[in-house]
Amino acid sequence: MTDDVLVVHGGTPLEGRIRVRGAKNLVSKAMVAALLGDSPSRLFDVPKIRDVEVVRGLLGLHGVKVTDGDEDGELVFDPANVEGASTDQINVHAGSSRIPILFCGPLLHRLGHAFIPDLGGCHIGPRPIDFHLQALREFGATVDKRPEGLHLSAPNGLHGTKFALPYPSVGATEQVLLTAVMAEGVTELRNAAVEPEIIDLICILQKMGAIIKVHTDRVIEVQGVPKLHGYTHRPIPDRIEAASWAAAALATRGHVEVLGAQQADMMTFLNIFRSVGGEYEVTDARAPKLGDPGQEGGIRFWHPGGELKSVALETDVHPGFMTDWQQPLVVALTQARGLSIVHETVYEQRLGYTEALNSMGANIQVYRDCLGGTPCRFGRRNFKHSAVIAGPSKLHAADLVIPDLRAGFSHLIAALAAEGTSRVYGVDLINRGYEDFEAKLADLGAHAERP
Ligand code: EPZ
Repeated sequence: MTDDVLVVHGGTPLEGRIRVRGAKNLVSKAMVAALLGDSPSRLFDVPKIRDVEVVRGLLGLHGVKVTDGDEDGELVFDPANVEGASTDQINVHAGSSRIPILFCGPLLHRLGHAFIPDLGGCHIGPRPIDFHLQALREFGATVDKRPEGLHLSAPNGLHGTKFALPYPSVGATEQVLLTAVMAEGVTELRNAAVEPEIIDLICILQKMGAIIKVHTDRVIEVQGVPKLHGYTHRPIPDRIEAASWAAAALATRGHVEVLGAQQADMMTFLNIFRSVGGEYEVTDARAPKLGDPGQEGGIRFWHPGGELKSVALETDVHPGFMTDWQQPLVVALTQARGLSIVHETVYEQRLGYTEALNSMGANIQVYRDCLGGTPCRFGRRNFKHSAVIAGPSKLHAADLVIPDLRAGFSHLIAALAAEGTSRVYGVDLINRGYEDFEAKLADLGAHAERP
C-alpha cells in the first residue's frame, strides 16, 4: 500500500492539453466481440489501462491471439483457434473486472460451454448480474452457479427470444447483443440501454455481418446470422475521461483542452458544466491540406474566474447525466455558491466518497430521500443516494484512500484543488480507467509525485 500513493501539492490550476483515446466502456466490449468473428479484427486507439489487460489475458487463455498492430494503440485479434481454458487459469482473473460476464454468449457460440470467474470492478453497491443470467436462460443457456464461478452450457444451441429488461442496464444490453447476433432467429429486446458505447458496439457487430435494428423507445431487434467475420474499428473517445478532466479544470480554476472529446456524446454534461459557470469551446477536427496542418478536434474547458453557481442534477441512463460524471463534478460543486443537489438514480451506493471530501473541508450531506423527480429504485429502500453540497468551501489537504475508480479520480481532483500537500493512497486503481494519468497530470502542470 505504501508504494501505491501519490503525493499531491494542491492549489495550482491545471493548464494545458491532453488527449483521450477509445472509451474504456466500449473498447473492452469490442475486444470480446472479436471472439465471434471467423477472421481477425483490428481495434484502434485502445488505451493502456488495466481493464484492457484483463480482457487481453482472458482472450489469450481462450486461444485468441492478441498482438499489437503497427499504429500506437492498435490491437489485432486472431480468433482462428478459439479453445476452452481451465477454470484455474481463468480464475487468475477473478475479481479483476466486470467484463468476463460478457464472454458468456460468444463462448457459448464458439465452444458450447463457458466458465465465468467471480467478477470484480468498482465497489459501488451490490452490482448483481441477475438480468444477464435471466437473458442467457431465455436464449436457452443452462447456468450452473458454483462457488468458483459460473458454468454455462447450451446443449440445444441458442435461440432468439423476446425479452424486456427490468432496467436499461448497459451490461445486460451488451450481453443480449453479443448473444443474439449469432442466435438462431429473431431477438427483440425491450427497455434496452442506448448509451453511445452501446451504439458503437452495434456498429462493430454490424461491420462483422450482424443485422441489428435500433427502434425508438429502447427497442432493439436482432436477426441472428450463422457466422460473423472480423472488424476494423476506431472506437468513440472516452467521454467519462473527458468529463473528468473538464471537472478537474473547473475545480482547480484551470484551463484544459481535451483532444478527442466529442460534443455529441457529452451534451448533457456540457449543459451542466455551463450551468455551473464553467466555459467550454468545441474545436472541430480539420483534415490537413496544402498550407494547413489541420487540427485535431476536442473541447477546451475552463474556469472563467469569479464564482461558480450551484445546480441540481440527477444521474440517469443515456441521454441523462451519466453516473460516472457525478463524482468528479461534485468536487467542482464544492466551490459553487449556494446549495447544489445530486440525485443518484443509477447506483444505490455511489456517494460514499463524499466523506473524504468533507474531511477536506467540503460541506456535503447525504440523504435517503429522492431529491429529484426522476423515478428511482432506491428511495424506498433506505439507500443514501441523494447529496446536498453547500458551497463554496475552502478545501484543505488530507490523507485519502481511494475506494473505486471514479471516486478515486474525484479524490485526486480534490487534492489538486486543495491548499497544501495531500497523500492519495490506492492511486493504482485509477489506472483501471485513466490511461497515463500521472503523465497527463504532469502535462497539465500539476505538482504530484510518487514518494
Ligand atoms: C457500465 O456498468 C459501466 N461499466 C459503468 O462504468 C457505468 O457506471 C454503468 O454501465 C452505467 O452507465 C462498464 O461498461 C464496464 P449497468 P454496468 O448494468 O454495465 C443494476 C466505470 O467507472 N443491474 O448499466 O455493470 C445495477 O446494479 C463503471 O467505468 C441489476 O440490478 O452497469 C445498477 O444499479 C462503473 N442487475 C444498474 O442496473 C443486473 O443484472 C445499472 O447497471 C445488471 C445491472
